[in-house]
Amino acid sequence: MDLFQYKNGILHCEDIAVDSLPERGLPTPFYLYSANTLRLHYKKIYSAFEKLDPTLCFSVKSCNNVHLLNELAALGAGMDIVSGGELFVVKQSNADLSKVVFAGVGKSDEEIKEAITSEVGYINIESEQELARVQELAGELKREVNVLIRILPDILDEKTNEKTRTGYKGAKFGIDYANVETLIEENADHPYVKIRGLHCHIGSPISSYTFYEECIHKMVELTKALKQKNIILKVLNIGGGFPANYMDNDNFSWESFAGPIISLLEPYVKNEGFKIILEPGRSISANTAILVTKVLYVKQSGEKHIAILDGGMTELIRPAMYNAFHFIWPVKPEPQHILTNRNYPVEQDGLTNYDVVGPICESSDYFAKERPLPTLRQGDYVAVFTTGAYGMVMSSNYNLHVRPAEIMVDKDKVYIIRERETQDDLVRKMIRHEL
Ligand code: LLP
Repeated sequence: MDLFQYKNGILHCEDIAVDSLPERGLPTPFYLYSANTLRLHYKKIYSAFEKLDPTLCFSVKSCNNVHLLNELAALGAGMDIVSGGELFVVKQSNADLSKVVFAGVGKSDEEIKEAITSEVGYINIESEQELARVQELAGELKREVNVLIRILPDILDEKTNEKTRTGYKGAKFGIDYANVETLIEENADHPYVKIRGLHCHIGSPISSYTFYEECIHKMVELTKALKQKNIILKVLNIGGGFPANYMDNDNFSWESFAGPIISLLEPYVKNEGFKIILEPGRSISANTAILVTKVLYVKQSGEKHIAILDGGMTELIRPAMYNAFHFIWPVKPEPQHILTNRNYPVEQDGLTNYDVVGPICESSDYFAKERPLPTLRQGDYVAVFTTGAYGMVMSSNYNLHVRPAEIMVDKDKVYIIRERETQDDLVRKMIRHEL
């Protein structure tokens, strides 16, 4: 569900006609965010899980613009971070640092110290050695810190892309489930590092709530075993990985997805005072943005029709990296191709199969292969949908392309929230000096 819709034949972001922006001089490609879609998604997910009174820590790695983080913080969101850089940005935002969770398998001493002195809510511990290091650093600083132990539960959703699986045995994330009980027992009484609960993230996007059920069972079993030994853990962070609408613009039923998870956890929340943390990223941010690009050239190669856009893998690497699907459609299609909804595949006559590619010198630089689309012409603006998550944040300067601008629409207001880089930016750090 999002607020990108065709009105009067032209794609609009809320009240703004998308083609009016390049016509006002904004160079393509650029990311275009809908503030009200962002708010809507946060609220939908929050209300679906409301019975658990959860803290929703938005996964900053999916979308890190401070102005968007501020919108979420204003609604009460906490933040899920994975680096000192993300902590730095979150500290520039209005987010409440006590609602920040800090995960990541390889935190440096500097990052750990910064997290401790910033008094983040929890550090998620991903190895035995990391726990020991956090204990040493907290001891040196003489500061208390709350931590969660990230378990590696040995759970695999085969439908997830191989590159975004995190919960299977042998993965680099978290601590083997079998070793966690002893680790917690041995470290339960540290004067500075307080183990408050468990963390888990099983991959993304996860196709069914059943994988969360499996994971929650394992977490609850562990808290029960530890309770027998008078070690009380009350925080369960079940991670992110909830789905986003990539293939359509239909309303996903959050109630059906959340229902079984709530049934499992509610008794522990109500009767034992458990505190639940969720770390959604893409389910909040993905549908929030489109990438607006322009057709530079159209050509034929053998039988193939190729549309070459001015944006490519440097702006959006997901198709190249994960073979990910993104819905693509012209901003101003011919009248017979205007869409009332965005279900894929589009049932329309008169479409042509295109390879939609970018300008980068790599064969993997494509957005879609053999995609049925209305006739594309030089100069047409094209929208690549559901790109608010893992879009801009994974952009690069490869081939020395400048990173694009980020624009946010809030009803009829348009804000530049990140300026397009300049070519000066490309060489700014290329400074030669002797070491
Ligand atoms: N929590 C942890 C510990 C995570 O590692 C992640 C994502 C999330 C939460 C949020 O997952 P989400 O709700 O956004 O699915 N670049 C890939 C996705 C990598 C996800 C990494 N971790 C992509 O474009 O699909």
